[in-house]
Amino acid sequence: QDTCPMGDPADNARAFNPFEGAYQLDPAKALRWSRDQLPVFFAPELGYWVVSRYDDIKSVFRDPVLFSPKNVLEKITPATPEAMEILQSYGYGMNKTLVNEDEPAHMERRRVLLDHFVPSELEKHKDMVRRLTREKIDAFINEGRTDLVESMLYEVPLLVALHFLGVPEDEIETLKSFSLAHSVNTWGKPTDEKQIEVAHDVGRFWQYAGQVIEKMRAEPEGTGWMHHTIRMNAKMPDVVTDSYVHSMMMAIIVAAHETTSLASANMFKTLLTHREAWEDICADPSLIPNAVEECLRYAGSIVAWRRQATAPTSVGGVDLPEGAKLLVVQASGNQDERHFEDGDTFDIYRDNAVDHLTFGYGAHQCMGKNIGRMEMRIFLEEMSRRLPHLQLSEQSFSYLPNTSFRGPDELWVEWDPARNPERVDN
Ligand code: HEM
Repeated sequence: QDTCPMGDPADNARAFNPFEGAYQLDPAKALRWSRDQLPVFFAPELGYWVVSRYDDIKSVFRDPVLFSPKNVLEKITPATPEAMEILQSYGYGMNKTLVNEDEPAHMERRRVLLDHFVPSELEKHKDMVRRLTREKIDAFINEGRTDLVESMLYEVPLLVALHFLGVPEDEIETLKSFSLAHSVNTWGKPTDEKQIEVAHDVGRFWQYAGQVIEKMRAEPEGTGWMHHTIRMNAKMPDVVTDSYVHSMMMAIIVAAHETTSLASANMFKTLLTHREAWEDICADPSLIPNAVEECLRYAGSIVAWRRQATAPTSVGGVDLPEGAKLLVVQASGNQDERHFEDGDTFDIYRDNAVDHLTFGYGAHQCMGKNIGRMEMRIFLEEMSRRLPHLQLSEQSFSYLPNTSFRGPDELWVEWDPARNPERVDN
């Protein structure tokens, strides 16, 4: 079922299921009917109001008081009693971080934790990103074929995230299974059986995060954002609370690296299926920054986010009760023709690509957006220079079924190593 649902919008609304079918294949296309006919609708299976147009999504993001982010990290599929018991046995206590914190506590905390994200600070990480990228490319450039996710796009953002945070790099394999479990736990629809496995992993992840904090506390001079956070926790415990530090340690590893890995995989997939765009970039790397924005618009890694109404209100002319839960689908807003001309066409020359909603908008807009962008630009700079003859291999793509995090599990690409410019040039 790769077509956009047709027919009665009320039927489409009743049938809306973000865990399978059209939404999993292409969330923007799956909601075209909604953008055109019923831009705010209640999805009974999910228990959420779905918001699909650009302006409506932006108006929800714009008001974090009326539309609280408190449900952002809630399990979208409630835990079974058995899974709940397992989580409790690990002392699991995921609570408020930044992304799900209400005002005024959120802004007060965000302000004291912002320094590490300013452009001059980010500049310091650029050489490391380039070095890691080059090392990964060196390892596969003579192979002629690779799964880019496995060989580069998963690990580089993870290493960059750990370095930025100041978290030790010793547990990469463990972190892989942990972050997957966190995504399934928060945004997926695990079966009752899977819930048990996921609960164990999430519980272990929680304990691991606690141990990392203890290790980091023992190094009061340590560098990186989480070290700074730990110092602020000692200095202003009411603003940067203990519970925040533990919850954030777990959440940020996923927030900082899964988002970027998936966005980068989507970017290569999109560019290699739009060959002209890829070739234009190879010929003129100054196109890269806007191409990255267009990739984030057309095929972003965060496709939907959540909010909860704190009072009776309306969105797009539809009345919502107090407590209404909203699923705002940025992937749909990003292709809304009311804001983006020919919104479902990929165009690296688009002049308003940067208006996309993939990083959210307003008070909670992604703090790491410029780190993500920097990594994506460097990946493109290095790959388009060293492998301009890169092709997408024949393959079928699989995605983790969930509402929000989107990117292919694998991305196979191929090329003829004899044509590598660095060989030809020698
Ligand atoms: C928040 C997406 C990379 C740290 C968010 C939000 C989204 C998002 C959708 C919620 C925005 C809202 O509610 O309005 C992305 C995407 C990324 C990315 C698509 C990569 C392509 C990163 C990186 C870091 C990071 C690399 C850190 C190193 C954060 C933090 C918040 C956040 C701390 C919470 C901000 C707040 O609530 O005040 N991100 N993110 N993100 N992101 Fe990112």
